[in-house]
Amino acid sequence: MKAFVLERYGKKRALRLADMPTPELRDDEVLVEVHAAGLNVLDSKIRDGEFKLILPYRLPLVLGHDVAGVVVKVGPRVRQFEEGDEVYARVDDFRIGTFAQFVPVKEASLALKPRGLTMEEAASVPLVGLTAWQALVEKANLNKGQKVFIQAGSGGVGTFAIQLAKHLGATVATTTSAANVALVKSLGADVVIDYKTQDFEDVLRDYDVVLNSQDGKTLEKSLRVLERGGKLISISGPPDPGFGLEIGAPGFVRLVMRLLSSGIRRKAKSRGIDYSFLFMKASGGQLREITRLIEAGAIRPVIDRVFPFHSTNEALAYVEAGRAKGKVVVKVK
Ligand SMILES: NC(=O)c1ccc[n+]([C@@H]2O[C@H](COP(=O)([O-])OP(=O)(O)OC[C@H]3O[C@@H](n4cnc5c(N)ncnc54)[C@H](OP(=O)(O)O)[C@@H]3O)[C@@H](O)[C@H]2O)c1
Repeated sequence: MKAFVLERYGKKRALRLADMPTPELRDDEVLVEVHAAGLNVLDSKIRDGEFKLILPYRLPLVLGHDVAGVVVKVGPRVRQFEEGDEVYARVDDFRIGTFAQFVPVKEASLALKPRGLTMEEAASVPLVGLTAWQALVEKANLNKGQKVFIQAGSGGVGTFAIQLAKHLGATVATTTSAANVALVKSLGADVVIDYKTQDFEDVLRDYDVVLNSQDGKTLEKSLRVLERGGKLISISGPPDPGFGLEIGAPGFVRLVMRLLSSGIRRKAKSRGIDYSFLFMKASGGQLREITRLIEAGAIRPVIDRVFPFHSTNEALAYVEAGRAKGKVVVKVK
């Protein structure tokens, strides 16, 4: 099969289009013929070598976490899927590789593709949709009437998280630049802050939840818009010791995490705020909940650009530039 392969870690290093053997199917997996693959900042960070401690991959590696496609083979222990099913997934860590013609996916991580979505639209959803779900539903338990600040509302995570938070009945504040104000308003954002001309700290007060996806300075400022008892959930670091335990990281990695996050944890504690780091996980069950919301019209995917498969490196460069309005996808079939 054709696949885009990472041969050596390196900043902006191009992936090589190569002929690779189709990965062997495990008993609890289905083989998916990839029709479209969604791109994520995580793909470029892994390629750059930034995730070596958390995700120590052996190279060569086919990159890519999001897929929409058709089941072409079913492992003997798979019960819920059959050949011909149209499906989508965020594939599991250490089993990634959606920038390819075929990818094996664990049954537990897979869901049927939402009716009414194209393959490209479906492939744009899983990683960011599950991130928003795990932050706002699982961790924050966001409820009707609460106030949430979702940074970078025009990005992949932001466009999904705004819609999910509105569906849950929350008031949503977000940051974006002037060109994307109309977009985030159309998704339901109640308070829109142009981060280039305004400081969110001057506008927002007594928030219940912040979903932080930006730098350390933004993370610290976020503490000051939360009320006591509020939750600061960061998806851009620093990882906390709880996360280290969760992934079974070795002792020295857990120590690094403890040190990296000690400042923000201390400051959060002194303000009565709960700080936690989230690294999202694959989940077919949660993806089915997301399917329901998409089919009910509560959430729609926002796609910025679709690239042809042979332009996967260009697509990754576009994502890295940090200006995407919603998601970037490659069309594989
Ligand atoms: N831990 C996890 O599980 C997890 C999961 C998903 C993502 N992430 C991380 O979360 C971050 C966001 O991911 P993403 O996929 O949403 O990224 P993205 O789609 O690439 O974000 C691009 C968007 O960010 C906006 N933006 C850039 N700088 C901004 C700023 N200072 N303030 C507000 N908006 C800004 C841009 O809007 P303008 O063009 O208007 O500036 C653009 O629309 C990344 O660091 C990613 O690695 C982590």
